[in-house]
Amino acid sequence: MENITGFPVTHKNYLESRLFLVDEMRDLVRKCSFIIDSPRRFGKTSVIKEFIRQENTKDEKNREFNIIFLELEGEETVNKFCYKFFKELLNLYRIRKKIDAVRQFLGDSWNVLASRLKKIDALDFGLEIQEKTREYDFSKWKEKITPMIAALNSFDKRTVIVFDEFPDMLQNFKTKGIESVDFKTVTDSLTGWLRALRQIQDSGCKYQFVFCGSINLRKTLEEIGVSKRINDLESFVIPPINSEDAKLLIKSLAQEYDIKIEPDSIEFMVSKITDGSPYYGQIIFKALRDTREKYFTSGKVEAIYEAMLRGGDHDLNHFHSRLEEYLSPLQRECSKIILKHLCNEAVHEKELYDLLLFEKCNFEEFQAVVNRLIYEGYITRDVDNKNSLKFVSPILKDWWACKAGVK
Ligand SMILES: Nc1ncnc2c1ncn2[C@@H]1O[C@H](COP(=O)(O)OP(=O)(O)OP(=O)(O)O)[C@@H](O)[C@H]1O
Ligand SMILES: [Mg+2]
Repeated sequence: MENITGFPVTHKNYLESRLFLVDEMRDLVRKCSFIIDSPRRFGKTSVIKEFIRQENTKDEKNREFNIIFLELEGEETVNKFCYKFFKELLNLYRIRKKIDAVRQFLGDSWNVLASRLKKIDALDFGLEIQEKTREYDFSKWKEKITPMIAALNSFDKRTVIVFDEFPDMLQNFKTKGIESVDFKTVTDSLTGWLRALRQIQDSGCKYQFVFCGSINLRKTLEEIGVSKRINDLESFVIPPINSEDAKLLIKSLAQEYDIKIEPDSIEFMVSKITDGSPYYGQIIFKALRDTREKYFTSGKVEAIYEAMLRGGDHDLNHFHSRLEEYLSPLQRECSKIILKHLCNEAVHEKELYDLLLFEKCNFEEFQAVVNRLIYEGYITRDVDNKNSLKFVSPILKDWWACKAGVK
């Protein structure tokens, strides 16, 4: 298992004890559309990519799904989203040799391109599609895409359409969109249309949508009052790792790189990453590898860990830069007060508000910040301790304590 920090992991790099998540996802996708719910860097994209990889290794007879994976982080307008969606659907029709069916939906002007699609192997028609659809607005796109989705009901295999980083794309509409449009109207009509598409599903559950992204979709839509657009979606939760997972992760990585770590240092690492994501284990392990040493005695790992947090040159920094990018100055100030306090003790949110924040903002604003910190992967509500707020994992707490001067 390789030491990968940041990119999605699959196959031998996917922690073995977490493979059950891929099986659970496969079971769920047979039944319904859903949102993958979990904080940042918990392995949302990895579970999807591993599901796709497993499916692709099957021979045609045993393959159960057609899969379309849409990576949406960089999309800044609804038109660009539709273009990508359309292109991938067209490709699916091409692969499944259904081009004649799609001709009917697209109309005569697409005949020439459609006949070429049959022959070419490589998906080399992006520019041509772009050219042909240059004048399309949202209603024209809907007119073209809707029948292509409805006709998935007639395919032999189920189709899974994954929208990765969907909420981040919505966020882009707001912050970077080049069209001057009303965010709420656009989001409402896009999510409303996607919901309507799910509803033309026949009883055989022939296609499902999977939404996933690092900013919480439910909260994003709730904030603008259109949460009804996704209330048909189930949730698929990616849980934090337990101490067994953590131990297996460290041991598998150590084996791969022929690194020896003394048992109490392994315990130390396990204690820092349990209840978080495998990502944190990968980060600590990377710090060990960066020393180029092969043998880590007691005390050495602790010292490297401390130096990593203080040095600041590690992959936790992106958590901080997201706060700078996405929160307003007031929200940022509140978040720093909350995080600093949680370095000292876990505390219930109401208590925290009454103690430190009641003069700065109203309770609703405070809760919005708390929820945001939860979905950014900083903190969580501890169900074993009366729902007190606490850092997701000790490594994040230690890191923030260094930053905030608590430690
Ligand atoms: N099953 C796993 N086995 C090993 N490492 C994992 C696993 N899942 C996640 N990781 C670690 O977490 C990192 C992020 O994984 P991934 O990109 O799948 O998360 P994500 O939830 O999609 O993140 P984001 O919120 O940024 O989109 C990986 O690079 C890897 O270090
Ligand atoms: Mg991801």
